Amino acid sequence: MATNKIILGDNLEILKKIEDNSVDLIYLDPPFFSNKNYEIIWGDEGEIRSFKDRWAGGIEHYIAWLKERVYEMYRVLKQTGTLFHHCDRHANAYIRVEILDRIFGQNNFINEFIWKRSSNRSSISKAARKNYDTIFFYAKSKKYTYNQLFMELSATSKDLYKNKDKHGFYQTVPLLVSGKRKGETGKIWKGIDPNKQGQEGMHWVTTPDKLDEYEKQDLIYFPKNGKTPRLKYYLKQSPGVPLSEVWDDIPLVQGNERIGYPTQKPEALLERIIKASSNKGDLVLDPFVGGGTTVAVADRLERKWIGIDQSVQAVKVTEFRLQRQQDLFSNPFTVQLHKYDYDTLRYADSFEFEEWIVQQYGGTGNVKQRGDYGIDGRMSDNTPIQVKRSDNVGRNVLDNFMSAVRRFDKALLEKNRKEKKPVGHLIAFSFNKGIKEETARLKNQEGIILKLVTVEEIVPIAKKPTIAIEVSEKSRDENGIWDIELTATGHSDAGVEFYSWDCSYDPEKGFKPSLMIDKEGRHRHQFKAGLHHIAVKVVDNDGLESVEVIKLQVNGKIKKTL
Ligand SMILES: C[S@@+](CC[C@H](N)C(=O)[O-])C[C@H]1O[C@@H](n2cnc3c(N)ncnc32)[C@H](O)[C@@H]1O
Repeated sequence: MATNKIILGDNLEILKKIEDNSVDLIYLDPPFFSNKNYEIIWGDEGEIRSFKDRWAGGIEHYIAWLKERVYEMYRVLKQTGTLFHHCDRHANAYIRVEILDRIFGQNNFINEFIWKRSSNRSSISKAARKNYDTIFFYAKSKKYTYNQLFMELSATSKDLYKNKDKHGFYQTVPLLVSGKRKGETGKIWKGIDPNKQGQEGMHWVTTPDKLDEYEKQDLIYFPKNGKTPRLKYYLKQSPGVPLSEVWDDIPLVQGNERIGYPTQKPEALLERIIKASSNKGDLVLDPFVGGGTTVAVADRLERKWIGIDQSVQAVKVTEFRLQRQQDLFSNPFTVQLHKYDYDTLRYADSFEFEEWIVQQYGGTGNVKQRGDYGIDGRMSDNTPIQVKRSDNVGRNVLDNFMSAVRRFDKALLEKNRKEKKPVGHLIAFSFNKGIKEETARLKNQEGIILKLVTVEEIVPIAKKPTIAIEVSEKSRDENGIWDIELTATGHSDAGVEFYSWDCSYDPEKGFKPSLMIDKEGRHRHQFKAGLHHIAVKVVDNDGLESVEVIKLQVNGKIKKTL
């Protein structure tokens, strides 16, 4: 399966298409078995379907639903691969015993991490605050990938670094340690004989030459009370403390990172997991990708990735989030929806389209591209296929194709005719009346079946939504800041799902939304006087989108131009 891809669909179906032993790291954050309302994030058809699936029965049902998916995850993991399963108190005991131990084996349980989400924003129960999640860490074998990581020092540890000089905050550590020595480290330095210090005698941590060098660099602290000198150890030198099982140093999603849905996980959490258990170029999979935290971080850390979600909204938010963080040098990615957008297919690069649609139809593309009587592909029995990337294809196309079919392989044509099978397949967006009448005549009078196939019969296609923007001034303050209301109105047969705004749109950089999810199509924004480019996207229930860009001249009065 191609990587760097966001896929819309039930992860069970998609996982089945991924090869065995191909993924390095899986992070899954499935809907928890918690409060029903809280679990509806996006509210679109895909999510509601999955929601009904999980809640059809009690905990047993939830565990069975999850288990068949985790089984597929285990299958696709490499022997060196690892899985991090994020869950909470509602089902963590069942998940560990009934799913992970059974599929991975108890021996392959590596650790249980506790992520303390926050001290403030926790719900209070009668017994205690509820403020942590569990992340189970399993490996497929003992040869799993793991890189030692460090956590930030706690506030109390940082307090130890209370002295400050031009290099920063520091604490002091001894230069003399117990035990007499005869060599260099036992020599007198600054008039201090280490062997005469302490009850048993001591020695320097390094040679007198090195101590001189430290002194020159101002790294030695000489106490005023004449006690023995000590080495300065700076806060910035400390790598932190080795990763422990309790993670209390990662706060909930904050600031710019916040997209606007409740179960979004912080990037710092995924950064820790991805750095710990994968390396550059490895493949990271998130089968419940939500708003795309895992894939956004994986992409930034130069891993390959695949993200799956059943919700159109989740898939599109992930797409916009990745676009927001992309620059000129980023790797491209693709998005696989249930439907294809008519305009994109209709006006795509013609050779690529021909090859792709022939494959979707079950044939093989024509590698030669030219000189094969205009034939674009063949079925497995060699019957020719021709593709016309147009609408209302008429009689003349059929006549040309029929003469190509006749010249291509006469024996095959005769065989197909005798066996009442199609002698050729003609693919187009639509056909006119003339061509349909001629195919009927060929069949009835000459016994020749020529199959006319529309693109829509091969792949599901739909028309993109349409969109228009209205602008209205709400107020203006004495500092020359204008408060403007932007209203977008989208139309789609499938139903409008949400809007997304980029109020400082730069055509060179592409769409980088400042407001990711706007369900209403209404956005208030403050503008300074000047020229502004605004882009808004509308996304429909199929995940198809359209964008509208306007120029807004804010100066004395506001003027919108397209
Ligand atoms: C808790 S959220 C994931 C949040 C994500 N970790 C983040 O940081 O944004 C769970 C996601 O699983 C998706 N989901 C639920 N059932 C699914 C299924 N069967 N296949 C694929 N995705 C599913 C939901 O649509 C939802 O987006």
